[in-house]
Amino acid sequence: MRSTQIRKTFTDFFTSHGHQLVPSSPLVPDDPTLLLANAGMNQFKPYFLGETTPPFPRATSIQKCARTSDIDNVGRTNRHATFFEMMGNFSFGDYFKEDAIAFAWELLTQGYGLEKDKLWITVYEDDDEAEHIWRRIGVPASRIQRLGMEDNYWSMGVPGPCGPCSEVNYDRGPAFGKEGGPAIDGERYVEIWNLVFMQFQRGEGDKKGNFPILGELARKGVDTGLGLDRLAAILQDAQNVCTTDLLLPTMHTVQDLAGRAMPDEGEGCSREGLTCSDSAP
Ligand code: SER
Repeated sequence: MRSTQIRKTFTDFFTSHGHQLVPSSPLVPDDPTLLLANAGMNQFKPYFLGETTPPFPRATSIQKCARTSDIDNVGRTNRHATFFEMMGNFSFGDYFKEDAIAFAWELLTQGYGLEKDKLWITVYEDDDEAEHIWRRIGVPASRIQRLGMEDNYWSMGVPGPCGPCSEVNYDRGPAFGKEGGPAIDGERYVEIWNLVFMQFQRGEGDKKGNFPILGELARKGVDTGLGLDRLAAILQDAQNVCTTDLLLPTMHTVQDLAGRAMPDEGEGCSREGLTCSDSAP
């Protein structure tokens, strides 16, 4: 599936479930605490914190993102880039875990046709509720893992809303790494979708990444992010995000200029028929 269709499938699904389609905010955010937009929820921070009344209870967007914390991984993994687009759905005091999980499962397995048996789930270490919902939906206990603060608790990295999260990971098979689930190998079991259950407000953190929880949010919310480039790599059977239709035209130009070929061009994308219009808007 081409990336234009991946985007459309996402926004069509969530608008048909009552979400307002909101354009991406600029990469340089209107937020003095943040250098670059690092998630779809950034522009909705005042809604989660209850500082501004949201004009709609549900939203969906495809956000331009850059993560300085990812830079050291670029070129070393199949899944990190200096820029990416995050497809998200958001609830501002409307639905919570039950619907967020049901939406993700339906869209991945029916909308994008991913095989259920290849999906592995992580939940926050004490989040029994999220695990029960996933079990009820049909995910066996053997494909659900519990992880701690570092992996399954999300904040913007600065004071603001935060909460435990549940991630959907796709098993790319033994050619990509060791078996044992996402707790063991993030290259083989690639994280594609993070569902954050926004529930608390955090304060300033220390250099080790520890931060105080200042209290509960007045209204619980949902903030999710599905990586467009990672999903494209899976649906296009591409080795890594650079060999999807999102980045391949750029890679071809770089190859031509450098006079060197990439070693691992994906099977799903050929040079023919690809144009830069498939790349990020
Ligand atoms: N904010 C969460 C993340 O960036 C979910 O979108 O992973």
